[in-house]
Amino acid sequence: MSVILLGVETSCDETSAAVVEDGVIVRSNIIASQVDLHRKFGGVVPEIASRRHLEGINPVLQEALAEAGVTFRDLHGVAVTYGPGLAGALLVGLMAAKTVAFALDIPLIGVNHLEAHIHANFLIEPNLSFPVLCLVVSGGHTDLVFISRLGDYRLLGRTRDDAAGEAFDKVARVLGLGYPGGPQVERLARDGNPEHLFFPRAYLEENTHDFSFSGLKTAVINYLEKSRREGREVNLADVAAGFQQAVVDVLVDKVLAAAEVHRPARILLAGGVAANRTLAKALKERAAAAGFAGTVPPPAFCTDNAAMVACAGYYRYLRGGFSPLTLNAAPGLGMGCG
Ligand code: KG4
Ligand code: ZN
Repeated sequence: MSVILLGVETSCDETSAAVVEDGVIVRSNIIASQVDLHRKFGGVVPEIASRRHLEGINPVLQEALAEAGVTFRDLHGVAVTYGPGLAGALLVGLMAAKTVAFALDIPLIGVNHLEAHIHANFLIEPNLSFPVLCLVVSGGHTDLVFISRLGDYRLLGRTRDDAAGEAFDKVARVLGLGYPGGPQVERLARDGNPEHLFFPRAYLEENTHDFSFSGLKTAVINYLEKSRREGREVNLADVAAGFQQAVVDVLVDKVLAAAEVHRPARILLAGGVAANRTLAKALKERAAAAGFAGTVPPPAFCTDNAAMVACAGYYRYLRGGFSPLTLNAAPGLGMGCG
């Protein structure tokens, strides 16, 4: 008999629900984005995000069930993101998931949002062999994770300051592009030459797998300010392309360096920044050249969605990793905890 799980995701600014069969068959994946609401503020406003999740969660749940052609009674469990993320936003999804689990007397499975991002790779490559090395690059995290087997996560390195997505968002702001910054920088960079402007790459000490992006961000800001002060015309597309190339170079170089040390069977990319096609292409090419298999999920599975939550929840479900109905939101949850 197949296992049908409902996935729920409300950690930031997408209200999402999905129905996933046996962990990897996505029967529906509904995402109600709040981007338009937050755009005029230049970023996510937590209070507005929570309110919008409240308005959206029931219709999104109904739509996910309808599109999958199932009813509540067909569900075997509910997987929900309980952290990391915005506290008020997480609570909305958590309360909805608990309500469904309680009313139907089916298991509740709390899922770490970062673990969910990693599982987006299983949606396209269900028979992954271990160990794998995964770079999780999102708005709040840049984590390099070694996974010897499912559920066993070892954090090899992380950013010491800005996350990669955060750097994209901040640079987008100084370039006068709107929120969310990553996709806009990528779009503008297509018209630029990545070799016209060279921005610094921070590789840090020789033996660390950590990252740092605040120096790069500051270099972009300083370049723009100096050019304006001196009345020099700035080619914004070249700035976007040069910045993006610097991020991609550091991420890919550091993933490959870690792969040489830890020899994974496969290299994975995950998180919102993995939607960046320049990054995805560079990682796949460099991995292949070094003799590693590489997987990058399609953009719709990289940015926040509930299908990846249901997928991660399924493997926890198989291990009996059920959560109590007292499960609370954990806004600061890290990789490897939970
Ligand atoms: O994983 P995600 O959707 O939410 C979090 O868990 O944070 O990641 C959002 C981040 C944002 O910083 C956004 O600018 C970035 O991912 N992002 C991108 C692209 N699409 C989203 N960054 C670079 N290129 C993209 N195409
Ligand atoms: Zn995310």
